[in-house]
Amino acid sequence: MTRTVLVTGGSTGLGKAVAARFRAAGDTVVITARDAGKLAATAAELDVRAITCDATDPGQVARLADDLGPELDVLVNMAGGNTDLDPPRAGLSPLDAVAAAWRANLDANLLSAVLTTAAVLDRMRPGGTVINVGSIGAEFASSSYGASKAALASWSAGLSSEVGPKGLTANLISPGYIAETEFFKGQLSDQRRAALIEATHNGRAGHPDDIAETAYFLASAGARHITGQTLHVNGGAFTTR
Ligand SMILES: NC(=O)c1ccc[n+]([C@@H]2O[C@H](COP(=O)([O-])OP(=O)(O)OC[C@H]3O[C@@H](n4cnc5c(N)ncnc54)[C@H](OP(=O)(O)O)[C@@H]3O)[C@@H](O)[C@H]2O)c1
Repeated sequence: MTRTVLVTGGSTGLGKAVAARFRAAGDTVVITARDAGKLAATAAELDVRAITCDATDPGQVARLADDLGPELDVLVNMAGGNTDLDPPRAGLSPLDAVAAAWRANLDANLLSAVLTTAAVLDRMRPGGTVINVGSIGAEFASSSYGASKAALASWSAGLSSEVGPKGLTANLISPGYIAETEFFKGQLSDQRRAALIEATHNGRAGHPDDIAETAYFLASAGARHITGQTLHVNGGAFTTR
């Protein structure tokens, strides 16, 4: 059966790899992002549909839902990133700057997934799945980015209990350090990169395909009893029991 798959943040990095994985299997894929030019280029490369949308903006998300079509099987809430890596907003008082920085990460990583899910949930078909994307940053002493991903994980588990009776699953993939993305915005030093790899058990960075394969599995028939979980994909840099 051909499924319809929505991947927010699908223009680069992990979202692009996830979109490519589902498309390669013959699924109909829609990707979103804010930068229309990059999004269009990726859509052409992967042969998928593009809808420009800022996932933090309720009006744009409502328009995305209107454009999407009546049925959806897989929602991958990939849009996000550490907004502390963006240039700080100028002209704010110290406390206003703290508020703006925290709101930016909560909007980018938590509200983005909550809004998109709320907008499209009514059209998800039984057997479908919602996949949220957290971060290993939620597990360690962290700033607003890790806190926003921890909140996303908590909400994701609650979502599972809400959608289970509708025949849907909801899980969160928590990546460790993944190379070949635009996540670090050129600000990852060689020393920090080496430390992130050193922290793994298998001595390597993650690749976008590691996340794409995990997402594809979570959307497969064999994963129907996996719901309400966080799946850590990090080479052992954070372990669970
Ligand atoms: N790379 C890692 O090591 C790593 C580790 C742990 C978790 N993650 C998480 O993985 C996810 C994907 O990141 P990535 O590593 O693939 O980085 P990336 O290459 O920067 O991709 C981020 C994607 O999200 C889009 N995006 C960002 N904010 C958005 C918004 N408000 N609305 C719609 N689209 C938005 C970006 O496009 P536009 O900028 O054009 O909107 C882009 O398509 C993020 O949630 C990130 O926190 C990454």
